[in-house]
Amino acid sequence: MCGIVGYIGDRDATPIIINGLKKLEYRGYDSAGIAVLQNGKIEVRRDAGKLRKLTAIVDMQPLAGNLGIGHTRWATHGMPTANNAHPHIGSTGEVVVVHNGIVENYLELKEELRSEGVEFKTDTDTETIVHLIELNLSSGLNFENATLAALKRLKGAHGIVTFSTREPDKIIAARIGNAGGVVIGLGENENFIASDIPAILEHTRRVIFLESEQIVLLGRDQITIKDFDGAVLHPEIQIISWDPVSAEKGEYRHFMYKEIHEQVRSLTDTLAGRVDFENGFIQLPELNLTAENAKSFQRIIITACGTAAYAGMVGKLLIEQIARIPVEVDIASEFRYRDPIIDETTLVIAISQSGETADTLAAMELAKRKRATLWSIVNVLGSQATRLSDGFISMQTGPEIGVASTKAFTAPLVDLYMIALLLADMRGTISKEKRKQLVSDLRLVPALVGQVLELDKDIMNIAKEFKYMRNTFYLGRGINMPIAYEGALKLKEISYIHAEAYPAGEMKHGPIALVDRDFPVLAIVPKDPWYEKMISQIEQVNARGGSVLAVATKGDERIKELADHIFWIPETPWLLSPVIAVIPLQLFAYHIASLRGLDVDQPRNLAKSVTVE
Ligand code: AGP
Repeated sequence: MCGIVGYIGDRDATPIIINGLKKLEYRGYDSAGIAVLQNGKIEVRRDAGKLRKLTAIVDMQPLAGNLGIGHTRWATHGMPTANNAHPHIGSTGEVVVVHNGIVENYLELKEELRSEGVEFKTDTDTETIVHLIELNLSSGLNFENATLAALKRLKGAHGIVTFSTREPDKIIAARIGNAGGVVIGLGENENFIASDIPAILEHTRRVIFLESEQIVLLGRDQITIKDFDGAVLHPEIQIISWDPVSAEKGEYRHFMYKEIHEQVRSLTDTLAGRVDFENGFIQLPELNLTAENAKSFQRIIITACGTAAYAGMVGKLLIEQIARIPVEVDIASEFRYRDPIIDETTLVIAISQSGETADTLAAMELAKRKRATLWSIVNVLGSQATRLSDGFISMQTGPEIGVASTKAFTAPLVDLYMIALLLADMRGTISKEKRKQLVSDLRLVPALVGQVLELDKDIMNIAKEFKYMRNTFYLGRGINMPIAYEGALKLKEISYIHAEAYPAGEMKHGPIALVDRDFPVLAIVPKDPWYEKMISQIEQVNARGGSVLAVATKGDERIKELADHIFWIPETPWLLSPVIAVIPLQLFAYHIASLRGLDVDQPRNLAKSVTVE
């Protein structure tokens, strides 16, 4: 999940690349580097740490050239040191490479290259790539074929961008498997390459997404795309509708804070064009669903990672309650290795904000091999997940930059609700009255979210009292049990506080032994069918002297007697309550992390899209 940017054209490459990397820094920020063709030589600047350190180096040792590539790194092999930072240059100085992915056979390649007299300078797997290209060049191959021959030796998934002094009129890029995107940006007398759209959006909206086992020869005014057998391809040029501003922070201190507050808009957008409120119907043409295949599904498996998996856990309750089809939720990294029993009567739904998560993509490929119908709910258009799917729903939230996912959690909850309604309608398992009521309830969601966001200051005041807590339980039941997991994950990943989520009914089977005054418990207890059960759980915590924070429905008098602090949410139809109940938990986690002075948008050890295993 590294950030890659390349440029070739009439303009100075350095500022374009550096600014592009800034837009991708959320993808990985252990180190950063840039290589520019300057007076016929490859000049490299790189350092460990954030992009601002590279910028400082470039300010002191400027670069000048119209062709270059840059990289921000999330370390996989080799510590995040300056020496291991990309770009990597070979022994002859004729070739330079930046890379996203893992060369799974790099040790054997290293041995082979050493036996050819190659001396390695870094601990990275990437360095094997640049030496392979150089050796192929010295054997007489041109740059394209030297690169292609090197790529065919690699195992694993890769996104690679390279250029050579031998042929200074081009950049070459290639994609193998699912190691994160390779996006070509088409300009006027200039062209761009990047691992994600925000890096090039201010320059062009015309993009081409490289698919696996494709290579591109990128000149300043011409582009040639081929498959690995050499066949020339003419893929579709896509027009990106995002506006560059939406990928910026605006008046917000952090992208995450902006994205939490964007959820009135993002939920409105994920509903847009998909709900006939007048007649009470859901329309999802992008799923290519007929009544016949809707009726053919015997069971559904939802697979995803992290936050997306918690959305899937809510989706299970929604689809089983509304469409009465059995649903399993499977963490993608487990699903892909358990040889699941699925066939053409199974519908597999993958959920992924980035559409590039390696485990989720592998699970999708497995589902296809086993002849399941495969749908996906994805935020990034043109991502691998959308291309693998038989049908997909775009979350339509606009770019989500903060590593901690927020609007790309609530949008799929609504998308899954709509899928449940569509399946029920097409299978004839829902009455017209119930369908119309459930469709009508959707109309309430953006305004209900807006009401919770207005309580932001109250939530921040509670966060001030808990910013130094060290351990906490998040408890939920039923449709809001997954919200306990999602709320706990938000707190963990940006504030580094140990937050453990549990199905509330499980507390008496052991975990309650941990509860005391210094171990606050956060209970999600809105007026839903599990309310009474949650109240008794909270009473059990109180009986042991534990302090309780509660997410509760406005007007609930009983909870005032039982909780020390309350995050109020408005009365909400219970099937949609997870969408509303999660908002205070997003804000609670954000304010605690922010009050602790932590790097909210780029938490330690994390990256926005995990494109490696
Ligand atoms: C969520 O806050 C985390 N950043 C992480 O769990 C994320 O949801 C997970 O890596 C899945 O990413 P995806 O939705 O892009 O597949």
